[in-house]
Amino acid sequence: MHNRQYVGLAGKTERQAVYQQLLFVCLMIMKNLGILLSGRGSNFEAIADNVASGELDANLAVVISNKAEAPGIESAQRRGLKALVIPSKSRPREEHDREMVAALREHQVDLVCLAGYTRLLSPWFVQQYPNRILNIHPSLLPAFPGLDAQKQAFDYGVKVSGCTVHFVDADLDHGAIILQKVVPVLDTDDDHTLAARILEQEHIAYSEAIRIVLEGEYTIRGRRVVMLK
Ligand code: GRF
Repeated sequence: MHNRQYVGLAGKTERQAVYQQLLFVCLMIMKNLGILLSGRGSNFEAIADNVASGELDANLAVVISNKAEAPGIESAQRRGLKALVIPSKSRPREEHDREMVAALREHQVDLVCLAGYTRLLSPWFVQQYPNRILNIHPSLLPAFPGLDAQKQAFDYGVKVSGCTVHFVDADLDHGAIILQKVVPVLDTDDDHTLAARILEQEHIAYSEAIRIVLEGEYTIRGRRVVMLK
């Protein structure tokens, strides 16, 4: 390959210029993810690892926490990602949501992923991203919505539990289900060991669900997310 200068891209060889253009095209095609979290951030980290390794063809455009002390936001900073704190305490829901959505738009987010985001979204927020907000919940919905789902399931005595990735609508843990992973409850379990095994599956399930949504080979019939391939 000759080291010819490429017209209009001063200082770059032709090969460098082609690579740069390819990178630009890839970034244009790659979808931007926006992660919302409030705490530990292990689901965010699993997604970020899959993006970094190329397993997940997406760009992590911004990570936003509503809590300054969330370990997940420190992790995002350590990874060199764009990390924002938009505190929600004592603020009216929609006012806070408008600031969140403004930040997501500023970072051209295509898909919003709730990853341990503990604040219910306002109907207004949900309307801004129709079928473009995902959540992960540590039970087989519709069983055990809400807080402490793993303990709720364990105390109820179920023999299987698991996790659910679903689209977000205006109701808590309610939107159409994209995928679920089943985790058996062992006689030797307590709620903590069960939660740990469910979390392992969450880390796999979330990226799988994101891939399904980004690839777009599905349709939604009523509450059913049906694959087209
Ligand atoms: C996970 O169990 C998730 O299912 C639920 O909140 C927890 C968040 O954990 N929505 P992490 O912050 O991702 O570690």
